[in-house]
Amino acid sequence: MKTLFSGIQPSGGAPSLGNYVGALRNWVKLQERYFCVYSIVDMHAITIRHDAAELRKNCRDMLAFLIATGIDPEASVLYYQSAVPAHAELAWILNCYTYMGELSRMTQFKEKSKKHQDNINAGLFTYPVLQAADILLYNAGFVPVGEDQRQHLELSRDIAIRFNNMYGDVFTVPEALIPESGAKIKNLQDPSRKMSKSDGDGDQGVIYMLDPPDSIASKIKRAVTDSESEVRYSETKPGVSNLLDIYSVFTDKTIAEAEKDFAGVKYGPFKNAVAETVAAALSAIQSRYREISADSAYLDKVIASNTPRAAAIAEKTLKAVKERIGFPL
Ligand code: TRP
Repeated sequence: MKTLFSGIQPSGGAPSLGNYVGALRNWVKLQERYFCVYSIVDMHAITIRHDAAELRKNCRDMLAFLIATGIDPEASVLYYQSAVPAHAELAWILNCYTYMGELSRMTQFKEKSKKHQDNINAGLFTYPVLQAADILLYNAGFVPVGEDQRQHLELSRDIAIRFNNMYGDVFTVPEALIPESGAKIKNLQDPSRKMSKSDGDGDQGVIYMLDPPDSIASKIKRAVTDSESEVRYSETKPGVSNLLDIYSVFTDKTIAEAEKDFAGVKYGPFKNAVAETVAAALSAIQSRYREISADSAYLDKVIASNTPRAAAIAEKTLKAVKERIGFPL
């Protein structure tokens, strides 16, 4: 099986439904076809000011959450980035093979510098180099990425190719893996935007994966629709279309089938049905999450067994790199 790598920031609170449908759900499916290495990237998280106790808790919560969604910590490798020192070591080396000009062009750096003007630290600038190190350490041929991470993946490829040209084929050059199912879940209050955690709009437009059924129902009930009354998928009906997308994702139905289910049905009952579908789908993940996060010994065991698995792969690559660039053997 080919190797796939991805990372997720321990950003605190449950991921949004949009994040789940757009990324995490695919992480689970990809395990059937790839040897998957999934990292909780706490080293990336400290490029923004944070609280120490909160970060530690967020890492643990994310670990429990990923297992609850269906990441199998025996088949896949699931670990904390900071527990494998090879990430920091390779990132330093790759810093010396990455140009200021390249990093200056990163749109995420520009956006984050604007947003956090009091803390434009060097780590924020070299963030994509650490990401390249993550990917290259595991010889990952594939990286599932959303639009926002594409530029970083492109840079990882450039760094890998540059290094290989100088020293011979040390790194596997990674390819982006674009999710096959196209549904992109939109904000319920503003269906022109994607549904993402960082929306900060009072959260009425964003469903979180650990939301209780009544809150899911009230958010969906308040979802923006239109002045018609027909449940139909159309560019001119972004709110209704978004709800149809959500329904089709969680029922595994096509949009045409979903439309048929609601032929002649008014928006009120339509929304109730969507809310029930989502709540039912999430309740399985939620109860697994409650079970797993309460089982401290199990989580300890997952980390204790996975960290060395990750480190073994990463150290092998790092050793090859050190040999090629001439560090004393
Ligand atoms: N930067 C990614 C994000 O914010 C997380 C990440 C870190 C990542 N290292 C990675 C994603 C390697 C893919 C591959 O979403």
